[in-house]
Amino acid sequence: MSEKMTQWKGKLSASPYNDRVLPLLSHKVEILDTTLRDGEQAPGIALSMSDKIAIAKALDDLGVDEIEAGFSASGKEEKETLKRIAGLGLTSRVCSLARSTVSDIDAVIDTGLDYIHTFIATSDIHLERKLKMTKEQVLERAVSAVQYAKDHGLKVQFSCEDATRSDLDFLKKVYGGVVEAGADVIDIPDTVGVMSPRSMEFLVSEISKSVKVPIAVHCHNDMGLATANSIAAVEAGASQVHVCVNGLGERAGNAPLEEVAVLLFINYGISTVDLSKIGQVSKAISRYTGYPIEYTKPIIGRNAFAHESGIHVHGMLADSSTYEAFPPELVGMDRNISLGKHSGAHSVRERLDRMRVDFPEDKMSELMDSMKAIAVGGKKIDDIELAVIADNVLWKDRVQHSVVLKEFVVITGKNVTPTATVTIEMDGKKNTVSQVGLGPVDAAMSAIRDAVNGNVSLEELRLDAITGGSDSICEVSVLVKDAKGDGSISAGKAVGLDIVNTSVDAIMEAINRDHSRRKSQ
Ligand code: KIV
Ligand code: ZN
Repeated sequence: MSEKMTQWKGKLSASPYNDRVLPLLSHKVEILDTTLRDGEQAPGIALSMSDKIAIAKALDDLGVDEIEAGFSASGKEEKETLKRIAGLGLTSRVCSLARSTVSDIDAVIDTGLDYIHTFIATSDIHLERKLKMTKEQVLERAVSAVQYAKDHGLKVQFSCEDATRSDLDFLKKVYGGVVEAGADVIDIPDTVGVMSPRSMEFLVSEISKSVKVPIAVHCHNDMGLATANSIAAVEAGASQVHVCVNGLGERAGNAPLEEVAVLLFINYGISTVDLSKIGQVSKAISRYTGYPIEYTKPIIGRNAFAHESGIHVHGMLADSSTYEAFPPELVGMDRNISLGKHSGAHSVRERLDRMRVDFPEDKMSELMDSMKAIAVGGKKIDDIELAVIADNVLWKDRVQHSVVLKEFVVITGKNVTPTATVTIEMDGKKNTVSQVGLGPVDAAMSAIRDAVNGNVSLEELRLDAITGGSDSICEVSVLVKDAKGDGSISAGKAVGLDIVNTSVDAIMEAINRDHSRRKSQ
């Protein structure tokens, strides 16, 4: 367990009712991550060899016990990728999926891996409609596949595909047969996600009466119960759970790694992966696969630790456990107190204070009205936007435009150093300055700051395209800090067609606010 996790051990009780009724579990629970196999089978995901290698390393670093890294018989590139992953020397054990055929098992042997996950379907529907095999033939195929893999020195995990719609006596026969043939672990897949926690508990208990090797479960999420079913299986004695990061996988996906790992830790005190790395790994997998993470996804969603409504933020500011089941640091995520339609004055005040914006209490209701008028369509207000709104409320009738841009020219292109020259008149005095920068906007910002005698520093500049295409309208928001006085923040915003000119307009607006404020003091 990582040092970071030790500090939480035994201290996170989500509910006292859990403490009263959940069983005390003492067995170790392993995580088999199948993001690279079942996860990749999700429509539209196609990971390159280098993506897969990077993901395997990230899963290893996260601390998963086993990685199902692919399906070696599915193609040359896949086999080569598995060979490369086999050679990485990871701490996690690595296996490949294989059907119960000699050619599939040989494909795994060719990769150099020493661990195979082999399977055959056992439900009547799969036997009759897909495999067109009798039960006797399936049993014989399963046993001989395991024998063949064992004869070639492999560690074997065996799955009865569609186990949760298979006849119990037949399941017991197949699992019994493969264990006798040497299977090291047996897996119970809920292939189409039809189980409930109670039926999962029943099935795992039944199977564990007849086989004496570790039991894994592989739960799909077709009815939204993959996590609950995996946990129920663990309660019934399963010692390995198959998962995918972000709940990827066929159709509605597999049990999400993040949910299973967090629940095992918080509700049962069972440590699996390094939870503090979950946020980072989840984001990486989303980037590699191109699958976005739903805002409301537990643990890893953008809203999982976001608070907006006035009542909630008020509570959160007093004690974060008022509205959080567990702190975001546990899973490497950030808390986000967002501002929007439901925000209250507490959140706004907290945000202004954090940005060191000095805003009077008697103008607060005017600020709240302006902010809500903008947020009404569901728009979130970020720091820079709040500063602009606050500035507008404070200074709307008082900004004197006494800092005037008289001339501005910028030279940019390929193989030239971007250079800007500005002439600014401030309180009747003209100042002409040239500056270079990394780009034309950077050069312009530097020249303008120098031309106002370094009165301000640029704190933030944000550029948004409002429309698409090369003729897009852009919006630039700028925050400047009073560099000579009290360090207060002033904002400026401008909209236009040209990024450089619009950035210049935005900073001039902010500089005039800063100048007016300074003169009024
Ligand atoms: O869902 C499933 O049944 C599978 C098997 C190959 C284990 O992915
Ligand atoms: Zn599956």
